[in-house]
Amino acid sequence: MTELPNGVPPGAKRAYTGKSKTVYTAEDDCDKVFMVFTDGFTGADGVENPGANQNIGTKEGLGHKNLSMTSYLYDKISEELGILSQIVEVDLENNLMIAKKARPFGKGLEFIARNKAWGSFLQRNSGYKQGDSTLDKKGWPFVEVSEKDDEKGDPFFSKQQHIDRGSITPKDWDACVWHTKIITDYLTSVFAEKGLDLIDIKIEFGKDRQGNIMLIDEISPGSLRALRDGKSASKDEIYEAIMGKPKSKSEAIMDNAAGKNGCGAVAPQKKPGQTGRCSGNDGK
Ligand SMILES: Nc1ncnc2c1ncn2[C@@H]1O[C@H](COP(=O)(O)OP(=O)(O)O)[C@@H](O)[C@H]1O
Ligand SMILES: [Mg+2]
Repeated sequence: MTELPNGVPPGAKRAYTGKSKTVYTAEDDCDKVFMVFTDGFTGADGVENPGANQNIGTKEGLGHKNLSMTSYLYDKISEELGILSQIVEVDLENNLMIAKKARPFGKGLEFIARNKAWGSFLQRNSGYKQGDSTLDKKGWPFVEVSEKDDEKGDPFFSKQQHIDRGSITPKDWDACVWHTKIITDYLTSVFAEKGLDLIDIKIEFGKDRQGNIMLIDEISPGSLRALRDGKSASKDEIYEAIMGKPKSKSEAIMDNAAGKNGCGAVAPQKKPGQTGRCSGNDGK
């Protein structure tokens, strides 16, 4: 029997091995997922690229940082915007997030919000220059939605296509797109206060057992693009601007035990868990 990572309950099963997390489900607590944040990063032809769909290496401490930043931002988003988050508890010592299990929209949808034209948007659309900031004529972040599909490179579809493919209802579409816009607007101001210009970001939603839309997965330096002084900011620069200089794992854990949580990154969060009978959700 393969050994389970620390913090994952005995008897849990590995449900999914992703590019940045391994997801476990427990038989007797089917409303939760146990997500272990790993150190893998994506790229193509040996060059790191957060948009790529293949891991090309690992960086020690990356999973820990991704979990810290996700935990910090999800807390802020739910406190400031009232948007439900998946987080039940965060165990930084073991790079583990215990989350409410989500039912994905179809195969899983990724909501990409753009403040400025950059990257793949320019390759797919003519008539724009890098940095164009008038993609949405009303001044909101411009939202596009792709379907999670590594083989096809996460293809974009129109609203009507996503609905016709049965991935999402019109009502849930409107709610998720609206959530994406206000989260992006809010994070743009949080980032601006830290000297970062948020260019674009990827956000995922799913539904909890009661059918409520919640923010799932992660928001970390690898799921967004930002500039500092007009130049592309590295993942480490993004992390440090938002979270401060990284503490060693043992410092973070000691601070956490002493209740010194800095910007909130190391606080374990307990939110009311949910219990109930399993409904066949596969935990992905
Ligand atoms: N709360 C949740 N409940 C169920 N599945 C989730 C939840 N949050 C994230 N996921 C899914 O778990 C997987 C996380 O692993 P990740 O490494 O991000 O995968 P990927 O390589 O597909 O990006 C993703 O498929 C994501 O959609
Ligand atoms: Mg992912």
